[in-house]
Amino acid sequence: MFKEVEPTYLPLHPRPAYLIVSGKGNEVNVMAASWVMPVSEEPLRIALALDRETYTFELIEKYREFTVNVVDAKLVDKVYLAGTISGRKVKNKISYLGLHTTPSLKIETPGIEEAVGIIEARVWNSLDVGEVRLYIADVVSVRVKPEYYNEKYGWDLRKIQILLHAVGRAFTTPSRIILAERKKK
Ligand SMILES: Cc1cc2nc3c(=O)[nH]c(=O)nc-3n(C[C@H](O)[C@H](O)[C@H](O)COP(=O)(O)O)c2cc1C
Repeated sequence: MFKEVEPTYLPLHPRPAYLIVSGKGNEVNVMAASWVMPVSEEPLRIALALDRETYTFELIEKYREFTVNVVDAKLVDKVYLAGTISGRKVKNKISYLGLHTTPSLKIETPGIEEAVGIIEARVWNSLDVGEVRLYIADVVSVRVKPEYYNEKYGWDLRKIQILLHAVGRAFTTPSRIILAERKKK
């Protein structure tokens, strides 16, 4: 038996929670985002659904680039604050959160030193959907901290806890890998 509920995105959560860095120079900002997804492999493009009221929106509109920073669950408090305080209210949200930037390889917007992975992206196209601008962006560089990463499977979940956002202050992490049965030949 199913029960119909108010239309909500919640059944599509939990979703990975990332740190998005935007801007350059003394205009660099960080926010939390979980509505981020891969879209195509050739070329490699990702999508970010971004509220047009955020400071991040202003900076991405200005500079047309951003980094997606993959973080361990240890950073949960910082991710939550990055997602509940606007860079318009605090002078430098990155240092306010005790985080540090690290230069990117292909774009001027930096990454987050404390992240385990940094994806550099340049906006390719966008579409307004409700309160959001949906950005489709070209991935121009992908870097990982290799001690947490396996070329075959991606993140080594024995070494790292990828942070997923449920709702509000509630987060979770994937705790184990489950292998599906092999296909019969
Ligand atoms: C875990 C988490 C995930 C979030 N995901 C998104 C998202 O995908 N898109 C979005 O526009 N806002 C998202 N937010 C809200 C923004 O992070 C929030 O509006 C933030 O304060 C914007 O910061 P800024 O004004 O400094 O850019 C999320 C918040 C949290 C806590």
